Amino acid sequence: MTAPTPLIAGNWKMNGLAASLDEAKAVAAGISRIAGRVALCPPATLVERMSRALAGSAVLVGGQDCSPEAAGAFTGDISAQMLADAGASLVIVGHSERRAGHGETDEIVAAKARAAVRGHLEPIVCVGETLDQRQAGDALKVVTGQVRESLPRELDRMAFAVAYEPVWAIGTGLTPTTPEIEEMHRAIRATLVELFGDDGAKVPILYGGSVKPSNAAEILHAAEVGGALVGGASLKAEDFLAIVNAL
Ligand code: PGA
Repeated sequence: MTAPTPLIAGNWKMNGLAASLDEAKAVAAGISRIAGRVALCPPATLVERMSRALAGSAVLVGGQDCSPEAAGAFTGDISAQMLADAGASLVIVGHSERRAGHGETDEIVAAKARAAVRGHLEPIVCVGETLDQRQAGDALKVVTGQVRESLPRELDRMAFAVAYEPVWAIGTGLTPTTPEIEEMHRAIRATLVELFGDDGAKVPILYGGSVKPSNAAEILHAAEVGGALVGGASLKAEDFLAIVNAL
């Protein structure tokens, strides 16, 4: 079985104004050889401009969230179709900052993943345990449960990625040990194969949470790690490129 094509995605979160497009252009200009796919997920306000700025480059553009609905009276929400129309080809769903800060349950995340597929976007579905859950010895159970409940059957035969992001590692500088990452990624892989058969073996499982140039090579070469979802370090082209080049 060939390994999944790795994906390195940068999540800009609520950062970035028009001037930040220069960083995105510097990423595109700095990629020489790619051993996988590279994406940047700017705030929604920049999706269209970034898509134009990166047209013809090797860098894909993604959204950070989408509505479970296709259209209608949902003030402030953005549909998958709208993101695709603005030039996105991927979308992050179920990030822990959405799960915790906006009350998104596994059921809502699954509905968003379904909406992404309907809107012709490739979802990056995030899962991850809190520190309390890890300390209680529940990390594997919690995360494989999230995988089961957040991935709708509609993803069968569709392109998608899973991002394992321990909540306590996001923006903290802390990371799990490599054996801990491998244990979790193996458990996620087994669950994916259980849910999607052979296709489950082709899904890239990204690691996210304090990935930076200094730890990227070790994390990216760990067993069953098929790329990274990078927050803070994706805001600077130099740092993000160093991570991409560690692949
Ligand atoms: P971080 O964020 O790299 O800043 O820890 C990762 C994420 O939230 O996707």
